[in-house]
Amino acid sequence: MAKEKLKTVYVCTQCGETSPRWLGRCPSCGAWNTMTEDVVAEPAKGSSARAAAPVRTPGQTSLVAHKLKNISTTEEKSRIVTGIGELDRVLGGGIVLGSVILIGGEPGIGKSTILLQLCGEVSKTRNVLYVTGEESVRQIKLRAVRLDVPQENISLVAESDVDEICGLIEQMKPDLVVIDSIQTMRCADISSSSGTVSQVKECSARFLNVAKANDIPTFIVGHVNKDGAIAGPKVMEHIVDTVLYFEGDKTLPYRVLRAVKNRYGSTNEIGMFDMTGRGLTQIENPSQVMLEGRPVGISGTCVACVMEGTRPVLSEVQALVTKTAFPSPRRTASGFDYNRMYLLLAVLEKRAGYVFGNQDVYVNIIGGLKLDETACDLPVCLAMASSLLDLPIGETTFAVGEVGLGGEIRSVTHLETRLREAQRIGFDTAIVPRHNLRMIDPAQFPNLKLIGVTYLREAINAIKLKN
Ligand code: TYD
Ligand code: MG
Repeated sequence: MAKEKLKTVYVCTQCGETSPRWLGRCPSCGAWNTMTEDVVAEPAKGSSARAAAPVRTPGQTSLVAHKLKNISTTEEKSRIVTGIGELDRVLGGGIVLGSVILIGGEPGIGKSTILLQLCGEVSKTRNVLYVTGEESVRQIKLRAVRLDVPQENISLVAESDVDEICGLIEQMKPDLVVIDSIQTMRCADISSSSGTVSQVKECSARFLNVAKANDIPTFIVGHVNKDGAIAGPKVMEHIVDTVLYFEGDKTLPYRVLRAVKNRYGSTNEIGMFDMTGRGLTQIENPSQVMLEGRPVGISGTCVACVMEGTRPVLSEVQALVTKTAFPSPRRTASGFDYNRMYLLLAVLEKRAGYVFGNQDVYVNIIGGLKLDETACDLPVCLAMASSLLDLPIGETTFAVGEVGLGGEIRSVTHLETRLREAQRIGFDTAIVPRHNLRMIDPAQFPNLKLIGVTYLREAINAIKLKN
């Protein structure tokens, strides 16, 4: 057999594009400084896969296509309900058998913790295999004791050789596998070191094959690089069934689990957790947590209600508008789109007559939430106007509505759900688009005063009147 030769290639860590030379910019995805050196085995001449492949006979195949209606599914049976409600919600109702789930997040955010807790829950009725390439089995044991997880049916192995691990999975046939993390796994056939693009790609492909062939759901931990993407090639996100991100501000105790890709469910849902001394606990009432410690009687804050999947979450928008000391005013937005803030400022100037030209504007969404729904336009505008006018908005008032370029307030979806949530938390006034009011029954909200507004100016007048 011809011997394989090693050669050096440069691989883009963003998209997996290869080049024989180093390049400052990836020609495929356009990212800068992402080409890293990698060593791959090159099959010797004459032994390439193409040369070895049999010649196809036209019209002949061993493939059989199935009629869609004849394919049977037993959806209910093919999911494992984890018992951690917030995780089940993000996964679309439990773990699908044979699915491969990538869970990404910054170091120390709690990926290993949530997976060990998951193992604990699942192991109450099934066998679980936890593979770690980062910690020793003793460290995992200590964490398990601290988290108080049942230890009966969890098996641990500290290993990084992907073939050995695949062999063990096939032999043990556990009901759930956790790989922590893909960047520490190594495939002996590839000479480059662990964590490189080719290693990550090959190792995830091998885990995927074993998971699919044996119908074993597999969780794979992936580290996140400084740009927030899962380190390694994007191809990894393509081949797995589900990609979850574990996010959160390290200074705050709560964490958000978000699905960015899910072949078996919606990607809208989020799960919320609180990091405590004894692991992660679920937050079943996020609105309450988001509004905790809210300042009272201070201008520049307004409560918004966002839909996170099917769940309404109330959160506080803060704005600070101060006279600028610079030739051009400073503007920053965190948790809200920067360009959208500029657009809303322009609408406030042109359509409502409030001048921000000589003012610095800072917008911040409390709790690390990202408000990317247009229904949050109105609360952001009200917070900015409230700060400019130094006019506090009542603490039991909340607003929802999209702001158009004409200064008009446009309808939003799920108004009823949002109002119900606000009423439940104890709000008594809602500033909502007037067009929306026609679609709901006010009798359902006896404790809420509904103020319908058509123009932005009217909404600002409504907060002036309340003072
Ligand atoms: P970990 O799951 O190791 O993070 P990752 O695997 O994402 O790198 O979580 C580590 C952090 O979580 C660490 O900073 C301490 C904190 N933590 C708690 O606050 N309480 C706990 O019970 C545990 C196990 C961890
Ligand atoms: Mg970890």
